[in-house]
Amino acid sequence: MKFHYADRVAGMQSSAIREILKITQQPDVISFAGGMPAPDTFPVAELREAVNYILTEHGAEALQYGVSEGYAPLRAWIAERMQGKGMDCKPENIFISAGSQQVLDFTGKIFLNPGDKVMVESPVYLAAVQAFRAYQAEFVAVPADNQGMDTTALAEKVAAANPKLIYINPTFENPRGTTLPAERRAKVAQIAAAYQVPVIEDDPYGELRFEGPPLPPLKSFPGGEWVIHMSSFSKIISPGLRVGWAVADTDIIRKLTMAKQASDVHTNSLAQQAIHRYLSTNDLAAHIRRITDIYRVHRDTMLAEMETHFPAACKWRKPAGGMFIWVALPPGADATALLSKAVAEKVAFVPGAPFYAAERAAENTLRLNFSNSSPDQIRIGIRRLGMLLRQELG
Ligand SMILES: Cc1ncc(COP(=O)(O)O)c(C=O)c1O
Repeated sequence: MKFHYADRVAGMQSSAIREILKITQQPDVISFAGGMPAPDTFPVAELREAVNYILTEHGAEALQYGVSEGYAPLRAWIAERMQGKGMDCKPENIFISAGSQQVLDFTGKIFLNPGDKVMVESPVYLAAVQAFRAYQAEFVAVPADNQGMDTTALAEKVAAANPKLIYINPTFENPRGTTLPAERRAKVAQIAAAYQVPVIEDDPYGELRFEGPPLPPLKSFPGGEWVIHMSSFSKIISPGLRVGWAVADTDIIRKLTMAKQASDVHTNSLAQQAIHRYLSTNDLAAHIRRITDIYRVHRDTMLAEMETHFPAACKWRKPAGGMFIWVALPPGADATALLSKAVAEKVAFVPGAPFYAAERAAENTLRLNFSNSSPDQIRIGIRRLGMLLRQELG
């Protein structure tokens, strides 16, 4: 049978990470591939209480259809928290989504015509590329250094390419773990306003800071009205509940709401209400401290093992938060070819190549996740990987 799909399906690709995750789900493989939280950080007992409370006290409301913009008390809670980070917003500026990935899909849906250009960091979060590619976008890669996107290059490329959107992951970026300094944040907001190009500020990891003071979001700088800030409960409570949000101008919120009405009507009511109950009866700051205390140990364990077991020609930087360490193998090495050998040795990572959207991939790069494995697994997994790298790279 031959099915005649829409033209846009030709550009859709299955996520390389999801495909790799399938292989690495064998229990004896230590996987540094995905971007999953540590299972022991989930507040299971507190969420059990929250779900029980909602079903007991507000069962009919939680099981009924809800409003597309999101559960009003949760929108109000998010608005207050975002104000606390310096964003000028009210509950009307908050849109609740089924995970923040849905905001990427919907921004593509409401802004992108086939052939429209999206400016992205290079390398870039590959599921953002996957979301925009479904709307037949084209990508313009902006070079990045140790501090994230090069904003001088961004200004030049925006002037030349007339893009429809700028996508940026400014804090503990996925995949490289870099963080954009305040001056560059100000510059991105300024470029957005000067060229009237919306910026998507994707911030799922900002709360996972292990050291140093937090930086203000792009949306809090002059020009911030052009910024669509998005974040999520995935990395601070649970990704399985699928609750994220966007903070944006009310006109954009109305368009996102229309996209949602046609897509999944509204985000799961029970999940939204349980999260709101959890937030009202627990100390989120203390919970986040617990997560960051755990992840700091994971990161430091991984870095110490890499120092001991990786060949000297491999390079990486210490991220100040988030979930990832980006590794450059010596020039000429091929991380994709190494992956199948690594899986044979019962350890997995994600090759860097799929994270390059618009230019030649650096085939010698790879991403390691440190959140999901225990320190013991990290010690064993990095030794296995180090042994393989020594064998393969000499
Ligand atoms: C940079 C980035 N953006 C967005 C997401 C989507 O997260 P969620 O849909 O769970 O909120 C992720 C998930 O790993 C991510 O790394």
